[in-house]
Amino acid sequence: MTRVVVTGAGGMLGQALMGCVPEGVQAIAVTRAEGDLTSPDGVRHAVAEPRPKVVIHAAAWTDVDGCERDPARAWSNNTLATRLVCETCQALGARLVGLSTDYVFDGLSGTPYCEGAPVNPTSVYGETKLAAERAIAALEDSVIVRTQWLYGPGGRNFVAAVLRQAWGGQPVSVVADQTGCPTYTRHLAPAVWRLAMSAFRGVVHVAGQGLATWLDLARVAFEAARVHRAPIPIAAEDWPSPVRRPRFSALAQDRWIGWAGSALPSWREGVKQYVHELLLEGGFQR
Ligand SMILES: NC(=O)c1ccc[n+]([C@@H]2O[C@H](COP(=O)([O-])OP(=O)(O)OC[C@H]3O[C@@H](n4cnc5c(N)ncnc54)[C@H](OP(=O)(O)O)[C@@H]3O)[C@@H](O)[C@H]2O)c1
Repeated sequence: MTRVVVTGAGGMLGQALMGCVPEGVQAIAVTRAEGDLTSPDGVRHAVAEPRPKVVIHAAAWTDVDGCERDPARAWSNNTLATRLVCETCQALGARLVGLSTDYVFDGLSGTPYCEGAPVNPTSVYGETKLAAERAIAALEDSVIVRTQWLYGPGGRNFVAAVLRQAWGGQPVSVVADQTGCPTYTRHLAPAVWRLAMSAFRGVVHVAGQGLATWLDLARVAFEAARVHRAPIPIAAEDWPSPVRRPRFSALAQDRWIGWAGSALPSWREGVKQYVHELLLEGGFQR
């Protein structure tokens, strides 16, 4: 059995990772309760003591607006914590797979970003994740998986948020001029495991297949949930937020497709599956 520590295991992607642990892997879920990764003691207890061969580092403070308002907390949870995890992996000789984001790019490109495209974050969240990437990249045996626009069970996400609003009878305003690749956590998680258990090294972009605006995503979610109302398109500048989010941050996935043999399923499939799950669970009251 290969022992693998999964940080952020209580989060949205972490739960999906723990839900599809491959055969031959003993996965150790590290949530905040097991250890605060901003503290050396927390990392020692939660990450070093199990003596893993591999660490999948999915923990981060993902509240992009919150990071902008509290940069010190963002730095601590996203960069410092990652550095401590990296030091531990170095000491153990463990492989590290770290999750990162399209927010390392400025979004000014009109075409999908490949792994080598120049980075230029426009938010505190993006800056702290980029600094984390640099720590991960300095390790001998590491992978940086950049992904984007995650949705899935067990976490705050856009699809759940717009459906909740619609069923609550509220008008749903949605940004129509930002483009990315929405990614279902249940589609991403097996890809992360494949990378983790392989010899792949370096940066790789992995996201749902196909491009979308937030408006496209809301429309497909409404259709899948049989919400017979239309989301109201608005411009990004009319969305109240302290952050300038990337306008076009779709991730080019040629490297992933070349290595894995195929793209992840399309974001539309993911949304249908996720909404179906939500309806079965009765997670929302109309
Ligand atoms: N969500 C997206 O759209 C998106 C897009 C691109 C990349 N990513 C990256 O993908 C990864 C997973 O994202 P996600 O959406 O699953 O995030 P999430 O749902 O917010 O989960 C992150 C988890 O990390 C934990 N955590 C944060 N700081 C910690 C600390 N100091 N010590 C211990 N645990 C800590 C959080 O615990 P608490 O809840 O207790 O704080 C939370 O359970 C992150 O690295 C994120 O940057 C996410």
